Amino acid sequence: MAVQINPSILSADFSRLAEEAKAVEGADWLHVDVMDNHFVPNLTLGVPVVESLAKASETPLDCHLMIEEPDRWAPAYVEAGAGSVTFHAEAAAAPVRLAREIRAKGGRASMALKPATPIEPYEDLLPELDMLLVMTVEPGFGGQAFLDIMLPKIRRTRELISKHGLELWLQVDGGVSASTIERCAEAGADVFVAGSAVYGTDDPAAAVRSLRNQATE
Ligand code: DX5
Ligand code: ZN
Repeated sequence: MAVQINPSILSADFSRLAEEAKAVEGADWLHVDVMDNHFVPNLTLGVPVVESLAKASETPLDCHLMIEEPDRWAPAYVEAGAGSVTFHAEAAAAPVRLAREIRAKGGRASMALKPATPIEPYEDLLPELDMLLVMTVEPGFGGQAFLDIMLPKIRRTRELISKHGLELWLQVDGGVSASTIERCAEAGADVFVAGSAVYGTDDPAAAVRSLRNQATE
């Protein structure tokens, strides 16, 4: 299981996004949090910024859509240049159709679960996805404390992925840091989003390397 580290630009300086993208060279994906002030109580950026960032960044974009009506908007993020697009299970009207549409446009299709959303109802959908995101905070803001109570869900999700012999990646997002990443890895996560633990340091590239070492041990 290859470990991937995806810095979240939510904790970066939004006036210098291209430079901030370059500051984490060596990262696997750049995690881009799209918030619409409806699905979550915060507002960030949309398709035009993703389009510019996709051109400016050598690191591929992992777009996390915390928005209502992802069925309507997610395909536009693939067209804008995102390599992976994550929609929320709680917001999608037709997750299978949406995942197929993302894949048909050449993107990796991913679905996210808020802390209170169980994985079990979605077991049969897993073959339609390239990644499953288990949120380890309530979505909306960077810098929140990691929710330990999500570790059993990470473990159960990994078991379901193995049971079906699937290749899909298991991402965790929220409060991932030097003090929590090992627990996430041990529970079965292989893709780690980190915002403040990367951009909140003086040397973001070094933070990526050290998180990777910790998750690999
Ligand atoms: C929160 C976002 C996260 C956020 C994580 O809703 O989805 O991607 O940037 O930030 P940290 O790593 O600081 O918890
Ligand atoms: Zn995110």
